[in-house]
Amino acid sequence: MASNDLDRQLVIEMVRVTEAGAIASSDWTGRGDEKAADAAAVKAIREALNNLPIDGTVVIGEGERDEAPMLYIGEKVGSGGRTADIALDPLEGTTLCAKAMPNSLAVVAISVEGGLLNAPDVYMDKIAVGGGLPDGVVDLDKSIKENIESLAQAKGKEAKDIMVCVLDRPRHSQIIAELRELGCGVTLIGDGDIAGVIATTDPKTGIDMYVGSGGAPEGVLASAALRCIGGQMQGRLLFRNDDEKARARKWGIEDLDRKYDMNEMASGDVIFSATGVTDGSLLEGVHNTPNGITTETLVMRSATKTVRRVHTIHGHKDNIG
Ligand code: FBP
Repeated sequence: MASNDLDRQLVIEMVRVTEAGAIASSDWTGRGDEKAADAAAVKAIREALNNLPIDGTVVIGEGERDEAPMLYIGEKVGSGGRTADIALDPLEGTTLCAKAMPNSLAVVAISVEGGLLNAPDVYMDKIAVGGGLPDGVVDLDKSIKENIESLAQAKGKEAKDIMVCVLDRPRHSQIIAELRELGCGVTLIGDGDIAGVIATTDPKTGIDMYVGSGGAPEGVLASAALRCIGGQMQGRLLFRNDDEKARARKWGIEDLDRKYDMNEMASGDVIFSATGVTDGSLLEGVHNTPNGITTETLVMRSATKTVRRVHTIHGHKDNIG
């Protein structure tokens, strides 16, 4: 293991961090209040991060300092120790949580300093597949037809046997029409494309590819996950106006048309942790049981490619995080 790797003790610490966020936001599951659910996760995750023995900097967070009082980009977190960068989405799928729908998650990634792309909060075009496939089997610059044919060939399937996950948005109508024309299956998700990307890595989901545009911060977090679990992902920032371009330049992005490989969005040693808030195909959500609150967390590390699922019973509500 390279000396620049993160301390492996951080793996369990990261579980504590996302568990705290998930439990806090779960109080708001199904209550129709997205802001309150997000705020609860932000507060809990911030408190938990400040207990970590790191000198951390939030590089992907709740927004810029003037718009987010907590976990803003550039905020320092941790109780002191090695330098590290943090990307987080305290409540991924705020609407899913507010409506008690599947797959809302608390998500945090930590990397060595400079290991995570400082992506502004703009859209990103994304394409992702799971592990065990030839490098470059899909590519953002290829058409849907070319990508499906290439992926089908690599998987020894026909196009009609390929299942593609797409965010259910009007902007994706052309992609969906092309996939249907090819005879592919389309899994439409209402929100939560980090879970959508990770689904490509698990044969049980039946999902072979993720494609479409979603949040750039979520793209970086999904890249961190795929770096650990295996798979391929590419992303390209999408700008709707000059203000968004200016924001990207402010974070040091000069080539606005650049196509990023997942290894450029998340490099060096990375730990990714996600805890389910609501039950979903990726993770169980938070439950209140007679023995205490239960959580399920997916935690993984790129240096070792270790993927763990941690089921926790929190017997003492006061000791979370
Ligand atoms: P939030 O948790 O911030 O609501 O994001 C949910 C999400 O579905 C992401 O997973 C996805 O990347 C993004 O929103 C898509 O954005 P939009 O809803 O604008 O299409």
